[in-house]
Amino acid sequence: MKEALNILMTASECVPFAKTGGLGDVVGTLPRFLKKAGHNVIVITPLYSFINREEHNLKVTFDKISVRMEYEEIVFSLHESTMRGDVPVYFIDYEPFFNRSNIYHDDNFVDYQDNPKRFSFLSKAALEVCKLLNFPPDIAHGHDWHTAILPAYLKRLYSHDSFFTNTASVLTIHNIAYQGRYDKYYHYYAGLNDEDFTPDKFECFNAVNFLKGGIYFADAVNTVSKGYASEIKTPSGGHGLDQSIKSKGDNFLGILNGADYGEWDPAKDKLIPSNYNSTNLNGKDLCKKVLQKEFRLLENNKIPVIGIISRMVEQKGFYLLPGCIDQIMESLDVQFAVLGSGDKYLEVFFSDLEKRFPGKVGTYIGYNNHLAHLIESGSDLFLMPSLYEPCGLNQIYSLKYGTLPIVRATGGLKDTVENYDPDTGQGTGFVFWEPSCNSIYNTIKWAVETFYNRKQHFHDLRKRAMLKNFSWEKSVAEYIKLYKKAMEDKA
Ligand code: ADP
Ligand code: GLC
Repeated sequence: MKEALNILMTASECVPFAKTGGLGDVVGTLPRFLKKAGHNVIVITPLYSFINREEHNLKVTFDKISVRMEYEEIVFSLHESTMRGDVPVYFIDYEPFFNRSNIYHDDNFVDYQDNPKRFSFLSKAALEVCKLLNFPPDIAHGHDWHTAILPAYLKRLYSHDSFFTNTASVLTIHNIAYQGRYDKYYHYYAGLNDEDFTPDKFECFNAVNFLKGGIYFADAVNTVSKGYASEIKTPSGGHGLDQSIKSKGDNFLGILNGADYGEWDPAKDKLIPSNYNSTNLNGKDLCKKVLQKEFRLLENNKIPVIGIISRMVEQKGFYLLPGCIDQIMESLDVQFAVLGSGDKYLEVFFSDLEKRFPGKVGTYIGYNNHLAHLIESGSDLFLMPSLYEPCGLNQIYSLKYGTLPIVRATGGLKDTVENYDPDTGQGTGFVFWEPSCNSIYNTIKWAVETFYNRKQHFHDLRKRAMLKNFSWEKSVAEYIKLYKKAMEDKA
């Protein structure tokens, strides 16, 4: 088998160009580590209108490329940049689909109605672009429902195209709850026919389900932690796709995401007020001071700050907070620094909280990378009460910043945070199991009391957390193994 593989990666998000969550972080990092391991990787992603062409030095590579979708010839151009001067990134420039203010939804968080069209076009265009670039992929790697159709395209529309004879496909599931379920019209729009509109492939209650079909057609499928990999094989965790997952047998597994410590390391982070490391945490005090000021909190180093950075959606579990926040605020001397956006009722809840508890809660509604780094560096604790969490990157970043995670034991959170043992002082964070107001309250109380009353343990937990290493090298080795298995099984 070839040593250096040609890998096509295509996705709806890619850091530093476009991101709503961890998917963007992964697609913006994994390719660089694959390249470091000696492989040839290209990334293909949309040219959203909010991407700054000058800042990223975009150049037109091809003009007037044409792809047929249903009855229409779509003519687009291709632009090129690199990911931190390293991996080539190609942008599909087609304004009717990608000249939008956000990636998936309008400013009121209503999904764009033509999302299935936009992303099946992206997947097909990606294959056409490989041909133009004369880049025959050994692996075509799609992410989430948006590019889950890629494997089906290879096995159906391109099955007789000798350019792709040796291409095996891999699909990574970052979140099985988002499946891309749409009217069956979009199945035909994408170019698939009746033969694949069946319950084992794309059909699901008479609608098309892009993730389901992708799982069926991919030569190998993975998700982003071992814990979540077990959970989605069960009826309660699989969101209706547990059987599809199980049918992949040993062609399905969990590979934990890594962290990009080039971006998320307090010793080197250029976005925080002061750098620090596990042997000298002094700089963290200044970060906390600036955080308290920036979030309008009482500037007092002795009060613990709990950070929150999140998409505000049901998955993240914050709907449990309204039921215990009064108890928290009345009984504990603690502060919250909150950054996020999403469901209106949660945005309103957190904004009101600042009004109700001035100096104790600071809320910023929106997306802001700079503030995300400030919260990671300046907080003492970090809250992720997720109902489910495929991997979770923020708790991994928090560990590195000595900001002890308070997490529910689910998916990747369970795999990455070790619960504090008050008898031995071991652990890296505070873990609870039951998704209830009581459990959150008790665990926050436990963490805050540890901060106040068991200073040595808190300090040791912090140091231990900072020494944990979730670098990409190990995960990349697992991806390469998966790629090779996909290639063998395809052959
Ligand atoms: P998910 O992908 O489910 O949103 P992750 O924990 O894997 O959860 O990744 C979230 C990523 O998005 C992190 O890099 C986090 O810092 C970032 N993020 C989420 N919300 C915001 C926000 N409002 N502002 C800045 N960064 C955010
Ligand atoms: C998804 C998941 C999150 C994961 C991220 C990157 O958005 O919700 O848990 O870390 O993808 O894989």
